[in-house]
Amino acid sequence: MPGESVAVEIAGKIAVVTGASSGIGRDTAIALAEAGATVVATARREPRLVELVEELRIHTPASCHIAGDIGERDFAEGLVRETVERFGRIDILVNNAGVPKHEPLYEISADEAEALMRVNFLSCLWTTFAAIPPMLLQGEQGGAAGCIVNVSSFAATVTPTYETVYAASKGAMNGFTRGLWSDLAGSNIHAVLVIPGPIDTEIWDKVHDEGAYSGAKYPARLVADEIVTAIRKERFEVTVPRRNPPLVSARLFATFFPAVIRKGVARMNPVDPAQVRRAIARAREGLPLGKDRGA
Ligand SMILES: NC(=O)c1ccc[n+]([C@@H]2O[C@H](COP(=O)([O-])OP(=O)(O)OC[C@H]3O[C@@H](n4cnc5c(N)ncnc54)[C@H](OP(=O)(O)O)[C@@H]3O)[C@@H](O)[C@H]2O)c1
Repeated sequence: MPGESVAVEIAGKIAVVTGASSGIGRDTAIALAEAGATVVATARREPRLVELVEELRIHTPASCHIAGDIGERDFAEGLVRETVERFGRIDILVNNAGVPKHEPLYEISADEAEALMRVNFLSCLWTTFAAIPPMLLQGEQGGAAGCIVNVSSFAATVTPTYETVYAASKGAMNGFTRGLWSDLAGSNIHAVLVIPGPIDTEIWDKVHDEGAYSGAKYPARLVADEIVTAIRKERFEVTVPRRNPPLVSARLFATFFPAVIRKGVARMNPVDPAQVRRAIARAREGLPLGKDRGA
């Protein structure tokens, strides 16, 4: 694969990791610090970040945290600005923060969908736009200008029932990252698209549906290690776990036999006809999509 032989040094780099208070983000922050990067860890739950930074500082004493809501543009842009002010540069940006949405489409309001897009996709666009100018200036001084890692989801490749809005946020991230590969040509800024399959993190505690995926889940550290390798080797797109038979076959079917995938998905977690009846009743009342009061 082109670029496989390149080895980018991570030691001494300044890395921002969003969604670092748990799961993939937490393990990625630790993996980067172990590799010698000074990490700026961010999420909303500050006590968790404080605890994480103690661990990061064993490896890189200047690692720190900035707490806030990445779904707010001011915070997302300020995160990058503050990092550059504090350390003079930003070498690695890992856009990992995300929230799940596994709900009947009829019950999601436009406001809820927009809020999810802000956290899962727009945050990545805001931090990336803020990071490109300082990265370009770094590139002018020779060597790697920077690396932007976007953590998407296999749900954008094969979309299960009730995941439409979540998949849309990750599909947007896929298109954005693939666009970066083209548009950042010649800038020395590298972009990586990471596509995790089912990973064992607390994100699943936020999904309340017995019909939701209940199969094998893989450790978050597996994704973290793949992220570090992708940065080092300048890989473009990584599905984790790699060469996993269920993911490989699902991707092939989604590409060549999308109707089969659609039928399979509908059989695994079928739409309850009662939801459709409720949605029709709301439509008769002139109500938009969303939950019934008290539901
Ligand atoms: N686990 C999986 O099976 C799986 C599969 C495919 C893709 N992914 C993606 O991988 C990424 C990490 O997920 P995970 O599984 O590690 O889940 P997780 O353990 O729930 O972590 C999500 C992280 O995002 C942060 N976050 C959520 N909303 C935020 C907000 N408004 N502002 C700032 N930070 C926010 C959370 O921190 P606070 O709550 O402290 O703010 C937390 O650190 C997500 O983008 C997810 O979509 C996960």
